[in-house]
Amino acid sequence: MIQSLRGMNDMFAPDAERFEYFIETATTIAKRYGFTYFEAPLLEETALFKRSVGESSDIVGKEMYQFIDKGENDVCLRPEGTAGVVRAFIQKKLDKQGGIHRFFYHGPMFRYERPQKGRLREFHQFGIESFGVASVVEDVSLIMMLVDILDALGIGYKLEINSLGDQNCMPEYRTKLVSFLDCHDDKICADCQRRKATNPIRVLDCKNGDCQLIYAEAPKLMQNLCEGCESDFTLLKELLDESQIAYEVNTHLVRGLDYYSKTAFEFVSDEIGSQSAIAGGGRYDRLVEFLDGKETPAVGFAIGIERLLELIKMPEPKRNGYYIGTMDEEGLPLIMKAAQAKRKSDKVIVEYKSKNFKNHLKGADKVNARYCAIIGENERNDGTIWVKDLEVKTEETIPLNSF
Ligand code: HAM
Repeated sequence: MIQSLRGMNDMFAPDAERFEYFIETATTIAKRYGFTYFEAPLLEETALFKRSVGESSDIVGKEMYQFIDKGENDVCLRPEGTAGVVRAFIQKKLDKQGGIHRFFYHGPMFRYERPQKGRLREFHQFGIESFGVASVVEDVSLIMMLVDILDALGIGYKLEINSLGDQNCMPEYRTKLVSFLDCHDDKICADCQRRKATNPIRVLDCKNGDCQLIYAEAPKLMQNLCEGCESDFTLLKELLDESQIAYEVNTHLVRGLDYYSKTAFEFVSDEIGSQSAIAGGGRYDRLVEFLDGKETPAVGFAIGIERLLELIKMPEPKRNGYYIGTMDEEGLPLIMKAAQAKRKSDKVIVEYKSKNFKNHLKGADKVNARYCAIIGENERNDGTIWVKDLEVKTEETIPLNSF
């Protein structure tokens, strides 16, 4: 028997219902913030991710679903959404046009990781990307949106924030950090030794406890920010305080993708095990330029939908729509026609099998229909249909043509 690939899940109800409910909720809220829907290809040139997410990242270094297609192109399944949106933004010349452009998207992402609870090889993100606003006010709006989405779904969270500096302060900090690492070279793990050469700040979120003991003493980027980054970060904290959004500053929050500068944030949950990040994002003011576009400030985030599923509190299911049945074969064409008309406005479940009255009522209850409509011999002869409102418990027989 052929099985699904490791780390790639099928999704049936109730998970699929939660998934759908999540998309509806997040979409409604994103539109309230003025974001419009965007859809990008799943397959892109590998170079796009190498240049944006970064060759030193685990995503590009180890986790890409990469292959040569029949036209000899080096392509890969997207491991994340931001790079594709930025590519499209530049391709459509929106960078040259200027102004503010705000997009939301959702869909599958692919990373060849070691599967475990909350870590899949195919997973789904709901993402937001905003172009054209340099002020951290937009970062705060995005965080507010994420809070609105999580609140609407009844999900608790902890917000961690950090500043990753910019081209003014980051290089100097990196030099300081590398000098510190040089002094501890014999004690840090092999991964960190590799990171020191490729992207030193990634050492700060190393999962090795011994490394973390050493990095507690490492120079902090927070104390090495330039004036601009520092005042931006202060304003970010003030605006969050003002909006009563609780946060913690985590100076070791560096994110696993190389394109960030200034604001970085993550939402974590303590209810889902070790893969606790439910959403992450930040500012990436240099990326548009880096992918050959015109310099454009940008900020975004993505939510990992699978990690949220078990946390979503669904609204109480309400009786909804019609259940239509017949008591004999002759009534079948009539109920099909009635259903066709009713489906213009309502959900309709048709029971094809002839049944007695009591069994139809049971059937309507089982599918949680609001109305049970039945055609028996009398109704057929009179051109009527019997309808019961299963919530209010009223019933009536009405002409079929006004049903
Ligand atoms: P990311 O932190 O790599 O950011 O992913 C965002 C979220 O996707 C994570 O917080 C997590 O919930 C979920 N996720 C990541 N990997 C997996 C996995 N293997 N299995 C299940 N869920 C996973 C980004 O992807 C950036 N593009 C976010 C962003 C948008 N930054 C700016 N704009």
